[in-house]
Amino acid sequence: MNTLLTSDRLVSDSRGYKLIHISDPHLSRQYYREHIKAFKILLETALKAGADHILITGDIISTADPDDFYLAREIFARFGLLDSRKLTVVPGNHDIFGGPHRAVDVLSFPKYIRNVDYEKHLKLFCDSFAETFEGVKTLVKDSLFPFIKQAGPFSILGLNSISRWSLWNNPLGSNGSLSVEQVVSLKSLIESNVLVEENLLVAMHHHFHDLNDEATQNKLWKRIESKTMRMKKRKSIIKLFNKFNVSYVLHGHVHMNEFYEKKNIKFMNGAGAVCDDPIPYLKYNVIECENGKTYAHIEQLNIPYQTSALKKPLNLRYREASFVHSDSLFV
Ligand SMILES: [Fe+2]
Repeated sequence: MNTLLTSDRLVSDSRGYKLIHISDPHLSRQYYREHIKAFKILLETALKAGADHILITGDIISTADPDDFYLAREIFARFGLLDSRKLTVVPGNHDIFGGPHRAVDVLSFPKYIRNVDYEKHLKLFCDSFAETFEGVKTLVKDSLFPFIKQAGPFSILGLNSISRWSLWNNPLGSNGSLSVEQVVSLKSLIESNVLVEENLLVAMHHHFHDLNDEATQNKLWKRIESKTMRMKKRKSIIKLFNKFNVSYVLHGHVHMNEFYEKKNIKFMNGAGAVCDDPIPYLKYNVIECENGKTYAHIEQLNIPYQTSALKKPLNLRYREASFVHSDSLFV
């Protein structure tokens, strides 16, 4: 990668600034070893393709287990990414609560989650990736969220959208919301006219569109989604975003890579990077700023993410994929 290191940012010479968005790698030594390989391939490919900054919007690990946080740290360290100038992370529900991974966990998980110490797990997430929060501006006392970070020409507004557990409102820990403190701090930012500059990226875990609109007409799925996966108060949060000059809201949670628009806000989901997307190939989102203009597209590698497909031809496919990228799915 041909880059110049300046005092406060990595600047690519003779080209724009390239931010790569990945979400939901669900790293787990115990349950998803194939995701570890896939994630390494994604990172290496993105860096070889000239990534200046990597942004990961949650579910970095699948279990909320300290060993898996250590695994993620090892991977980031290996790629030289434990650096606030190169990597930004926000938490997903799996980073805080874990989740059911085997059929039998469906029975035990609702019981287990009642005893999860939210603050302790959020601290574990923040401590595990402490280097990536260095130099950020925080807005709430004693909390890292929301934070504002400068990454090249982009301002990143990092939010924690993980709701606390509630028997009625968040029984599986996977619903999203912004805490009162985060909303109040965002409103005061608006009043103080900070963050009016262009190229503002919002980074958070939860999605904003109604999945029943486009992904499926299945009524049962809609009911499950609305009870267990949904971002609360989406309309009022979008109104808040409209008062900022938001270029893109980058998120994950629903395992697919997609682009959509709501009330003049552009959203990019990066959660199909390594698993579950209807298009079963590794992929990442690219947001580039060149000559003051911002462009975004999904980059798809020609590597399937299933374990069976990755087993034997991994090295050969990987070498090919490092140089041959498929066409962008949209611009
Ligand atoms: Fe996820």
